[in-house]
Amino acid sequence: MSFRRILLFGCLLAMTAFAAALVYAWRSALAPIDPPSTASFSDDEVRRGAALALIGDCRTCHTAPDARTFAGGLAMPTPFGTIYSTNITPDPETGIGRWSLAAFTRAMREGVDREGRHLYPAFPYDHFSLTTDGDVKALYAFLMTRDAVVAHAPANDLPFPINIRLVLAGWKLLFFHPGPFVAEPSRDAQWNRGRYLVEGLAHCGACHTPRNLMGAEIGSRAFAGGEAESWTAFPLGSHSPARIPWTEAALGHYLRAGWDADHGAALGPMRPVVENLAEAPADDVAAMAHYLASLGHPVEKPLALAPTPAEAAGLRPQSAGWQTASAAPPAGLPPGQTIFDAACRACHAAGRPLPLGGVDLAVSSSLSASSPQNLLNILLQGVPARDGEAGPIMPNFGGALDDAALSALVGYLRQDLAGLAPWPGLADAIAAARRAAASSSHARADR
Ligand code: HEC
Ligand code: HEC
Ligand code: HEC
Repeated sequence: MSFRRILLFGCLLAMTAFAAALVYAWRSALAPIDPPSTASFSDDEVRRGAALALIGDCRTCHTAPDARTFAGGLAMPTPFGTIYSTNITPDPETGIGRWSLAAFTRAMREGVDREGRHLYPAFPYDHFSLTTDGDVKALYAFLMTRDAVVAHAPANDLPFPINIRLVLAGWKLLFFHPGPFVAEPSRDAQWNRGRYLVEGLAHCGACHTPRNLMGAEIGSRAFAGGEAESWTAFPLGSHSPARIPWTEAALGHYLRAGWDADHGAALGPMRPVVENLAEAPADDVAAMAHYLASLGHPVEKPLALAPTPAEAAGLRPQSAGWQTASAAPPAGLPPGQTIFDAACRACHAAGRPLPLGGVDLAVSSSLSASSPQNLLNILLQGVPARDGEAGPIMPNFGGALDDAALSALVGYLRQDLAGLAPWPGLADAIAAARRAAASSSHARADR
């Protein structure tokens, strides 16, 4: 073959491949409808949809700070750039008012919008695809009966080529394995319900499963721990770093109440999850705890801790009230413990029960985790108060503690209190946590 013929043949081959890819990637628009009247949905269906929407965290992602519920516009930072959630109120122009049930179902199951554009998996359709027809219909009924809000989502801030939605077709080909949910006949109904919700609508793995470089969850490492908004979503099940193994009862309480006496409170991005589950049906949350508990737990890592230097020296811990009395820490203590005694002990070692008191830090997963990320986030961001609710509050120590003091305190907590090897790369982790605290204080001030 002459060089020209090879070139021609190569071009033809490339064009055929490109055309095939386009045919695969191309999704047609579905016809717009007149927004359905609220009377066309049954109360019962709307009520079921409301419960499912809580389990799916729809309002958490689709509501921007100080804006109308479900009107979208929340900035979602990803390793690739910022994606904004969309308006899912029934407004005909800026929301999903003209979406048929078929269009809504296609978005939930296949990640394609009414006009046929591929959606970014920041919208967890890789989990939502498991949702049954009946549940998708109930969610549709619920959303279509909300107040319509006129609101345009800001344009995404993504680099080329990720800003081209057609590229997502390739991502889906490689990484998207849509449902349906298949029940495990050897397990009981509660277990199957729990798995259906955890893997599906509740999309727990979206945060708790590690992702590959292309941003897809690594299925073989389900629940081995992931990352969300600069927080570690701790491993669950047999990978859990918890010092006291999570039982079904502890999980059930934590997921609904937002805290557990042996594990502390849900903080960072886990907080909205439990706030939603607090309002969800109790037996659904119990089923999720039942399923999660069946994932097993690691061999117990008993808390046989060496006495702290102060205890070894026969010093008794101070009781609450470091701010008041002559609470000067005993001389000669390592600086990390001095800081702990002065700034933390009153709340964390005074026996005040949760949720208002702080947990005994030795049991906290933030000390036994493989990275200091969450501990630093908590120290730098504190536990902010909630509007009009009695709940846990902790001040932030970002201003009071400089980097040297922070690293001494963290060293004391990790090595002396938890009895574990020091974290490598602590200085870098402190710098990263300071950046995260600075951006979280203006980005999502009070969510
Ligand atoms: C983790 C955050 C997150 C959660 C949870 C979430 N969404 Fe979304 N959703 C998004 C983002 C981001 C987009 C926009 C994706 C894009 O632009 O490609 C989106 C898009 C959508 C769309 C397409 C709308 C359009 O105009 O194209 C629908 C429908 C939708 N979501 C419904 C839901 C429902 C129903 C729930 C709850 C069951 C839910 N979402 C939960 C982040 C989320
Ligand atoms: C005014 C009381 C108060 C003070 C002072 C305080 N905390 Fe807290 N802290 C809390 C409360 C309340 C919580 C939420 C309940 C919980 O999770 O323990 C919390 C949560 C935490 C957590 C998360 C525990 C978990 O796994 O849930 C860590 C870690 C922590 N605090 C560390 C510290 C350290 C270190 C100091 C000292 C620099 C400190 N706290 C000072 C009240 C306080
Ligand atoms: C938006 C991200 C996100 C989602 C979705 C999410 N989590 Fe979390 N989860 C986190 C983060 C971050 C932490 C660590 C912060 C903390 O412990 O308070 C966490 C902590 C936890 C813990 C405590 C682990 C420990 O050892 O202390 C449990 C249990 C948990 N999540 C279960 C779940 C379940 C079940 C679901 C699904 C219903 C879920 N999470 C969904 C982000 C998420």
